[in-house]
Amino acid sequence: MGVDLRHGGNRQAAASRLNCRPSQLLDASASLAPWSPRGFRMPRTAIRDYPDRAQTSLRQAMAGIHGIDPDAVLPGNGAAELFTWAARDAADVGVSGLLAPGFADYRRALQCWNAPSIDVPVVLRWDHPGPLEHPSMAAPVAWICNPHNPTGQLWSRASLEPLLATHGLVICDEAFLPLVPDGEQQSLIPLVEHHPNLVVIRSLTKLLGMAGLRVGYAIAHPDRLNRWRGWRDPWPVNGFAAAMTEQVLLPLGRYQRWCRRVQHWTATEGAWMQRQLAAVPGLCPMPSSANFLLIAGAGSLVPLREALERSDRILLRDCRSFEGLGESWLRIGLQSRRNNRRIVRALREELQRSPLA
Ligand SMILES: Cc1ncc(COP(=O)(O)O)c(C=O)c1O
Repeated sequence: MGVDLRHGGNRQAAASRLNCRPSQLLDASASLAPWSPRGFRMPRTAIRDYPDRAQTSLRQAMAGIHGIDPDAVLPGNGAAELFTWAARDAADVGVSGLLAPGFADYRRALQCWNAPSIDVPVVLRWDHPGPLEHPSMAAPVAWICNPHNPTGQLWSRASLEPLLATHGLVICDEAFLPLVPDGEQQSLIPLVEHHPNLVVIRSLTKLLGMAGLRVGYAIAHPDRLNRWRGWRDPWPVNGFAAAMTEQVLLPLGRYQRWCRRVQHWTATEGAWMQRQLAAVPGLCPMPSSANFLLIAGAGSLVPLREALERSDRILLRDCRSFEGLGESWLRIGLQSRRNNRRIVRALREELQRSPLA
């Protein structure tokens, strides 16, 4: 298999390429919180029994975070699985509008159902971290990513709400929203109850640093979610993942403290990295509300990224697979201060050795 440039976080493949252990790599190509919850109790039944097909207690735990009806919640095997079902609905509604550059998995999901899509360009120069006005989309289905990956632009709820009147289906991916300070104020979740054409998708991957667990959830009208249930395999979230998720989401107070801690990290490390990277000649970090930064270079950044990988064992996100971005862009997922320092030092040293052409 070749290198998959459509997604970051390919630690194993990079380790084989570099002939090192995966744990020796600092992976800033994926954008996860730098800590993961610990100290789980794993009931024997989580392994021994079939998972509850109705996912009752899992849905209750997820609904409890947002104060919504558990029937409006559908847990999935990561947000990625839920995009597949959202895309199946999108295929019935018509052409999907996708912001470009944007997260590649929406396109993968649409292709499963031969669903047509059009690209809507995102402005690539903006002057503050947000909230910003979402671009309009001339297509019956609007796919929104808030905050937007890879740019880190936070879209205002006020600019998203009117789309519900003009589009047959609005799919809003809020995978990164709980990591954004005050991000919940822009969430569309409170609008789901009165808008059957709205689907919001969340993920535990980024917020809890649990990419391997594969847990996400959709919030939408119960009729829509019941239809999806009929299409998917019977146990999409395994018993182990379901039991761990319930322990992370409950009690609510502990989960809320976790969110505050992560949001504080996004704010402080985001600002620190912005300052440090802006001082590196040839690099221009774009404003970001999220826990990743899109960097514009004064020339191709591919040799720089490759040098960091080879000499420093640091993985940054190659942006060539994003439509509209090219060799002169990189995305960096924020890390702990110690590791952020390591990234800045490595970038500075590599650029001193080989300045950008
Ligand atoms: C914008 C966005 N949404 C969703 C996902 C996928 O989340 P999950 O791991 O829950 O499938 C990603 C992963 O990179 C992402 O960048």
